[in-house]
Amino acid sequence: SDPLRLGIAGLGTVGVGVLKIVRDQADLIAARAGRPVEVTAVSARTRDKDRGVSIDGMAWEDDPVALATRDDVDLFVEVMGGSDGPAKAATEAAIEAGKDVVTANKAMLAIHGQALAEAAEAANVVIRFEAAVAGGIPVIKALTEGLSANRIERVMGVMNGTCNYILTRMEATRQGYNALFEEADKLGYLEADPMLDVGGIDAGHKLALLSSIAFGTRVDFDAVQLEGIQAITLEDIVQARDMGYRIKLLGVAQMTGRGLEQRMMPCLVPAGSPLGQLEGGTNMVVIDGDSVGQIVMRGAGAGEGPTASAVMADVIDIARGIRVSTFGQAASGLRQVRAASSAVP
Ligand code: NDP
Ligand code: HSE
Repeated sequence: SDPLRLGIAGLGTVGVGVLKIVRDQADLIAARAGRPVEVTAVSARTRDKDRGVSIDGMAWEDDPVALATRDDVDLFVEVMGGSDGPAKAATEAAIEAGKDVVTANKAMLAIHGQALAEAAEAANVVIRFEAAVAGGIPVIKALTEGLSANRIERVMGVMNGTCNYILTRMEATRQGYNALFEEADKLGYLEADPMLDVGGIDAGHKLALLSSIAFGTRVDFDAVQLEGIQAITLEDIVQARDMGYRIKLLGVAQMTGRGLEQRMMPCLVPAGSPLGQLEGGTNMVVIDGDSVGQIVMRGAGAGEGPTASAVMADVIDIARGIRVSTFGQAASGLRQVRAASSAVP
């Protein structure tokens, strides 16, 4: 059958990971998708850069909008980043041109996800974003498919690999967090603006997306009570450990009698608990459902392979003919149920 033709905008950590999976797992993907998946066109800022993977035979576009609307692109893969600018313009152009979209861009979705989902619904195209929350952990699939018969009571977890890496490496090496940026960068964990990571904003974006999916509400990033890890000192970490605790940037979202509460902030967790034992870039998501009870998912939350794994899971679903967007095909009907208390710091 006809191949699914991808146009990939962004050839950094995630884009290169996607190219490698398409190249190295072509047979496995074709078998699971029921058709071949190929990359017909790519875009990035700089064409002549050794990325450790060949782009020979793929068309090049300087402009991601031109890439997203090419006739030989069926599915637009947005892995550039940035909440606005070219990522948003190209995603909107793809939707308008009738192309399905897979993106890893939680910043864009936390702010514009509702509008993009409604545009996709109107254009009858699919928009999916498994990679945007908790990297390689298939938490969106778990919520939308495996737990679809449950009323979700709470979602919580550690959702930023950089912060968990820095907090655990500070403890292990007794260095301040600035010294650890370089290590986190080499592992491909950092956002283009690392303040999004240490400021808790990236994790807040993810929590807002997860809440929307778990509780069937509009993405409401403005309602997330946020605090990052910048104020955490080495002394705090050592003292916590001496008392049998570890500091984690922990997110919690739950539906209360007052509406949806969302918080992302540094918390003390018992050192011996599953959350307390998370090392490096590992993420953990804990979901409480009324029938299933508690589900705990743990895995790599950032980096090339894990994030590309999640992007490709969405690509394979679309290649299989699954026509359901992540927010569902009734995005326009989602409600906003911000808790009255969430405006209070
Ligand atoms: P990188 O910074 O490694 O790569 C970004 C890529 O986008 C680069 O290839 C860059 O081009 C290209 N790019 C940036 N701006 C433009 C532009 N204006 N026009 C064309 N191309 C552009 O980012 P990541 O791969 O780490 O992240 C990509 C997305 O995935 C982000 O939304 C991020 O939040 C998300 N994500 C990342 C994860 C990770 O672990 N890294 C995990 C989950 C999600 P060039 O190479 O020429 O500079
Ligand atoms: N910067 C992000 C993190 C990438 O560290 O978790 C994965 O979303």
